[in-house]
Amino acid sequence: DLATTYPDPVQIAVIGGTGLRELPGFAQVATLSVETPWGNPSSPITILHHNSPSSGKPIPIAFLSRHGLYHEYAPHEVPSRANIAALRSIGVRAVIAFSAVGSLQEAIRPRDFLIPDQIIDRTKGVRPWTFFEGGMVGHVGFADPFDTALSSIVSKCGHSLEGDGVKLHDSGTLICMEGPQFSTRAESNLYRSWGGSVINMSALPEAKLAREAEIAYQMICMATDYDCWHSAGESVSVELVMSHMRANSDNARRFVGTVLDELSKEEHAHIVSGESLREQSKSAAMMT
Ligand code: ADE
Repeated sequence: DLATTYPDPVQIAVIGGTGLRELPGFAQVATLSVETPWGNPSSPITILHHNSPSSGKPIPIAFLSRHGLYHEYAPHEVPSRANIAALRSIGVRAVIAFSAVGSLQEAIRPRDFLIPDQIIDRTKGVRPWTFFEGGMVGHVGFADPFDTALSSIVSKCGHSLEGDGVKLHDSGTLICMEGPQFSTRAESNLYRSWGGSVINMSALPEAKLAREAEIAYQMICMATDYDCWHSAGESVSVELVMSHMRANSDNARRFVGTVLDELSKEEHAHIVSGESLREQSKSAAMMT
């Protein structure tokens, strides 16, 4: 039986998306049911032990399944505030988030990976999107929605797997739409004209809340379809998304595993402890 508590702070977390509901190959040591003022997270938080090649003792990693253990939360129903608050409450300061995405560019082919550096918010304001309300007023910078230190680590790790079946695009603009319906063809073409690279329904408000919680956050995207703009390809469907996700899940897990190997190294301690964020941080919560 798994422990239901964990004695030490857990600084690194993975948020798994569609098709990445668990991380096999890591020893599960605990499963935590965390309550927050914003309710329960979408799944219990599993604590995995990662045997870091460069350190004597195992590094704990938190894993949270964004859509629930049984994919019971649609993108607009994901309790993102509870998810981020729960991770922060156990010590998390660095999140690697995973997402299946549609491609808006010919050169980004299904099963390619992409590390976005920008987001365009096309959610509809129906998801609770901030911790700063009800007397706690705060404004955080979001010009660069992802953490640059994490993104360079993720990019280095992704490229180390190239030649081994992994194709990586180092940057791109992610459109985050509301869903759960997919886009119209006119919308898909509009997003292309805006310079969008890929599209999903899950980056927001997760990335905004991570920024407010002073957690370094980077999303890894895996393309599963050409949305509906491509004249030759089949339009996006759940079946298409799932079949590419399944077919490429070994690569997705290998990619995340390599990132965890790297992040567990002593030289990155200042990133996963939140120290480098505190140094850069221009955020200020103005308590009233
Ligand atoms: N997730 C995967 N493919 C998608 C698409 N085409 N649109 C929105 N979210 C997606």
